[in-house]
Amino acid sequence: MSKKTVLDFLDMKRRGEKITFLTAYDYPLASFAEKAGIDMMLVGDSLGMVVYGLPGTIPVTMDEMIIHSRAVRRGAPNTFVIGDMPFMSYQSSVEKAVENAGRFLKEAEMDAIKLEGGRRVKDQIKAIVDAGIPVMGHIGLTPQSSGQLGGFKAQGRTADAAGELLLDAIAIEEAGAFSILLEAIPPEVGGAITERLSIPTLGIGAGINCDGQLLISGDMLGLVEAFTPKFVKKYVNLSELITKAIAEYISDIKEMQFPEEKHTYRMKEGEVEKLQGFLKSLDR
Ligand code: KIV
Repeated sequence: MSKKTVLDFLDMKRRGEKITFLTAYDYPLASFAEKAGIDMMLVGDSLGMVVYGLPGTIPVTMDEMIIHSRAVRRGAPNTFVIGDMPFMSYQSSVEKAVENAGRFLKEAEMDAIKLEGGRRVKDQIKAIVDAGIPVMGHIGLTPQSSGQLGGFKAQGRTADAAGELLLDAIAIEEAGAFSILLEAIPPEVGGAITERLSIPTLGIGAGINCDGQLLISGDMLGLVEAFTPKFVKKYVNLSELITKAIAEYISDIKEMQFPEEKHTYRMKEGEVEKLQGFLKSLDR
């Protein structure tokens, strides 16, 4: 299957075909997701929690994002992959935002970048788009500003707050973004934004009416044990399967049930006798 483009995603919205979207942080998972036929992938700064065991995304650096984006690109050469701009890689100036967005394309062959925020980052979005880089916006629960939001809480739950989100979404579209991610908002708000915008909306905890859905791979595969948000559907419990497999491995080693004959290399014919002779000669 050939790699999808921003025009394909626009067309999918027009035709009402849902867009599938998943985070990936490394080569193996990216290759599995591409094989399964995912439409787009995000190398999210959620790797801070999922891969590095950090309490949030704030400490994640551009260099770490580039390393993981390269691995994902190698695993998924034919998938549209988006690099996530980490905290302080775009907030402080438009110039810094363009420079760091460019790194994702030059150093990791990403197809687009994502950044958090609405009206307050419209200048950054416009400048990155003007540099020829496709941008995905991200509003609702924006983890990099969770301190300001009072924690990892659903957003847009009053009509006023929903109205503010709609204004942010419109500003992002007007700044030239090709799509927008809506996180942890009620389905009515996700639906209203989706209806109002001509660019596709991707939802993570934003209801069924978005143009597509995103989940964090570690959550949907059951690799994250610490906390599971309400919007996650766990398709498999890999942490349980992996722990069980490692416990079995430990027991096999202790009980000398591993390695078995089939895991063992044998010496060439006649060489065992020669080795025994050599060992004997050492004892003389
Ligand atoms: O980093 C990430 O994976 C994200 C999701 C939380 C939407 O931005």
